[in-house]
Amino acid sequence: MAKAKKQIGKSAAPKKAAAKKAVAPKKAAAKKATPKKAAAKKAVAPKKAAAKKAAAPKKAAAKKAVAPKKAAAKKAAAPKKAAARKAVAPKKAAAKKAAVPKKAAAKFGTEGEQLEKFFHDSLKDIYWAEKNLAKALPKLQKEATSQELKTAIQEHTAQTQSQATRLEQVFELLGKKPQAMKCDAMEGLIKEAQSIVEETQKGSNTRDAGIIVAAQKVEHYEIATYGSLVTLAKVMGQDEAAEILAEILEEEKTTDELLTEIAEGSINWQAKQESEGDTADEDEDEEEDDDDEDEEDVEDEDEEDDEDEEDDDDDDDDEDEEEK
Ligand SMILES: [Fe+2]
Ligand SMILES: [Fe+2]
Repeated sequence: MAKAKKQIGKSAAPKKAAAKKAVAPKKAAAKKATPKKAAAKKAVAPKKAAAKKAAAPKKAAAKKAVAPKKAAAKKAAAPKKAAARKAVAPKKAAAKKAAVPKKAAAKFGTEGEQLEKFFHDSLKDIYWAEKNLAKALPKLQKEATSQELKTAIQEHTAQTQSQATRLEQVFELLGKKPQAMKCDAMEGLIKEAQSIVEETQKGSNTRDAGIIVAAQKVEHYEIATYGSLVTLAKVMGQDEAAEILAEILEEEKTTDELLTEIAEGSINWQAKQESEGDTADEDEDEEEDDDDEDEEDVEDEDEEDDEDEEDDDDDDDDEDEEEK
């Protein structure tokens, strides 16, 4: 019996094993069947991926589609902001500009007042210049040798006096009292003319040429001044004043042209010849003569200096009176 049991046991075991084996493949099959799940997963995954892929471009497209909209909105908004900014900026600038004169108004006046004051001061300046030229020109006339130059200076002296009188009319047109204010530039030009006389020989064509140079510098300064004053007077609506100033401007231009004619017509050429002659004479002259000449020159210059000093004093007095 025991054997049989054993046999039974033996035979039963393979059955279990068989059953196990039979089951195992089932499980394995079942496990193997997972590929179905995997397949399903796989099948699903691509679907999801596809959906994702498909969705992604949609989103990207949507994003892209949105982005330009936003960018467009931003772009559209930016100019609006910039425009708003720009529109505000000039207002600020205008406010700033308006604010400066307010601060400066106490010192300089409003813009209109400033220009009027500048014009008025320029008028005082050139009035001083004309009055002092009327005194300086006769001295230059005296020092000139050429009769043509002497006559030209004499005529322009009379013209200069008349110009000063006409400037007084301009002051009146502005409702102002004629007043002279020292013109540093003209003072310098007059001093330069005096220096030229001092540094050149009396009776020489070189001195005449030098006087013309000095006189033309004066005329050019006057031309610049009157040219500017005419323009300013027009801008300010002072047409009558502009007319008077334009008339003076033309006289200064004519004088300048006349001086050029005199210089180019004879004096400059004669001065050159004189210079060449001087060089030849100097070679022949004895040193002693030169010394005598130099001493005479020094005396002349001293006399001129004294004269100048007196004149300067006179000028200062005039100026003080005028400013008062
Ligand atoms: Fe003048
Ligand atoms: Fe002049």
